[in-house]
Amino acid sequence: MAEKDLGKILLTQADIERRVMELGKEISLFYRAEPVTVVGVLKGAVFFLADLVRQIESPLTYDFFQAESYGLDTASSGIPRLTLTTKTPLGDRHVLLVEDIIDTGFTLKLVREAVLLEKPRSLRTCVLLDKKDRRQTDVPLDWVGFPIPNRFVVGYGLDYRERYRNLPYLAFLDEPWERGR
Ligand code: IMP
Ligand code: MG
Repeated sequence: MAEKDLGKILLTQADIERRVMELGKEISLFYRAEPVTVVGVLKGAVFFLADLVRQIESPLTYDFFQAESYGLDTASSGIPRLTLTTKTPLGDRHVLLVEDIIDTGFTLKLVREAVLLEKPRSLRTCVLLDKKDRRQTDVPLDWVGFPIPNRFVVGYGLDYRERYRNLPYLAFLDEPWERGR
């Protein structure tokens, strides 16, 4: 893998592991023995969901939505669309939405609305990364892994043009990719 575009490391594998463990504990304490339906957003949330559900002790099942908005650029088009919805019925379930990163907020808002249409018993949201400064629409967040600065990051599921998702850590993407943000 060409790593010349990669900048400084934002979060090491150990940082992520530690935080995911904490989040898993908090979420387990919250739901206790109630069954939870965990819903991840493809493709970015795959690794986070996989690690997180293994730290949750409450009985659970999981499924995925797919949302796309970025295409091939680093600037959000602001118009995400759902390209896949869950086959699992979400009505009357405790739904925990899991997303890799919240930026403008439009993606999570869209997914939340899709879940709410199915009338879940409850809906809560857990994101690993929160780029607070970029928010353009309000989305209630229940668990946040790390607030991060307004810079483009890759790794641990997050991509630049579909690359770098498999990095076990999170890194900033160097210029020139960041320009124009
Ligand atoms: P939002 O709709 O603007 O909140 O964008 C959320 C989606 O944009 C995430 O699910 C990611 O797929 C993508 N995204 C936002 N910021 C980054 C980043 O820094 N690196 C990689 N993908 C990002
Ligand atoms: Mg995503």
